Amino acid sequence: MTDNRGSFSRIGFILAAAGSAVGLGNLWKFPYTVGENGGGLFVLVYLISIVVIALPVLMAEVTLGRHTGKNPVGAFGAIRPGTPWKWVGYLGVASGFMILSFYAVIAGTTLGYFLKAITGQFSGITTEGAAAMYTGFVQNPLLQIIVLAVFILLTVYVVARGVSGGIEKFSKILMPMLFGILLLLLVRSLTLNGAAAGIEFYLKPDFKAFKPSIIIAAMGQAFFSLSLGMGTMITYGSYVPKKENVPVSAGWIAFFDTFIAIVAGFIIFPAIFSQGMDPAAGSGVMFNVLPVLFDKMPLGAVVGPLFFLLLSIAALTSTISILEVPVAFAIDEKGWDRKKAAYIIGGIAMVFGIPSALGQGAVGFFTNLPLFHMSFLDLWVEIWGNLSLSIGALFIAIFVGWSWKTKNAIAEMKEGAGDLKFAGLWAFMLKYVSPVLILAILLSSIL
Ligand code: PHE
Repeated sequence: MTDNRGSFSRIGFILAAAGSAVGLGNLWKFPYTVGENGGGLFVLVYLISIVVIALPVLMAEVTLGRHTGKNPVGAFGAIRPGTPWKWVGYLGVASGFMILSFYAVIAGTTLGYFLKAITGQFSGITTEGAAAMYTGFVQNPLLQIIVLAVFILLTVYVVARGVSGGIEKFSKILMPMLFGILLLLLVRSLTLNGAAAGIEFYLKPDFKAFKPSIIIAAMGQAFFSLSLGMGTMITYGSYVPKKENVPVSAGWIAFFDTFIAIVAGFIIFPAIFSQGMDPAAGSGVMFNVLPVLFDKMPLGAVVGPLFFLLLSIAALTSTISILEVPVAFAIDEKGWDRKKAAYIIGGIAMVFGIPSALGQGAVGFFTNLPLFHMSFLDLWVEIWGNLSLSIGALFIAIFVGWSWKTKNAIAEMKEGAGDLKFAGLWAFMLKYVSPVLILAILLSSIL
């Protein structure tokens, strides 16, 4: 490894990987996806997907990364040189690029809401007022492009400074703070009038409402939330020291990420129902619901800005991990210097983000796309945030399970983990359960 690549300290990996996993996927995407997919049943399928499909893939990605010490393209190439496997890596680099382009728009909106909160714009706000505020913000083209640019610049700035210097430091204090704020919101939300209806929607599975689309949405959400299927965890794994216990770290990361998402649901759904809103209203739900909640809580004027600030930072630790994939690729494979890679790739992602910035809400450019009946941003979330990650995860599972072979992966995992009691179970899940389920779910959704 050259200095240009860098590496994590012991605790650094858990922090950085949890920082990558916890972000808008938990607080913005999870609640509206639950809402659009009927509530409790989706939550149940989601939890099963995390344990049965995503966790084995998470361990595979980190192990592959640590073993090869490379970006996704390089990792496949290192183990099976001269084969088409490297295209799985290229798909990951492309997905990273595209995810960054829309993710930074939502992250920018979060930052914008921080400014609204701190300037007191939530005070006395009604449900209708919050809706109007959201529409006004996302349908202001200039503002959206500005927040996109600001967020990409922040991301580029950190990535340019390198992995250990930039990324680790951010996660250490801020994650526990975010968690503390979430607990405050939880208490307020659960004690709202009408909270019970929200909890029921969130927790009670309605098996009669089952549709195959629920499963594909849950699986895609599991990959997105754990940052899987595009090589983020391969790349982060490449900075992991040999003394790190990979399976235990992976378990903690999955647990922590899932816990935050579940807590987010307990905040959002009582609030939605107590405000008489539609849980299936789509990707603006979080921004519509929370301002009213803050206005209704003691110290809301402090908690509100703090929440949006911390969420912006959580989003930043995710965008950093997304940009890191193409940047590590450019450093390893193209010999670019880190700074140059970060600025150039970030700059292009920003340009690619413009259609997403202009395509949100119900009216405006790139909204209500004819064939798809959704906005450009929502379409991009579907294609790059769900579908391409599922395809990537499928190939990663097949690669590690069948081409590299689980016994080699287990040998790598044992460094730092010692004797692995569950190695056999993991191998079985990765070779048979995850890929078969992913394939079956993808095929059933196409048919
Ligand atoms: N997991 C991140 C989140 O939940 C998003 C992400 C997706 C990050 C893919 C990296 C790779 O916000």
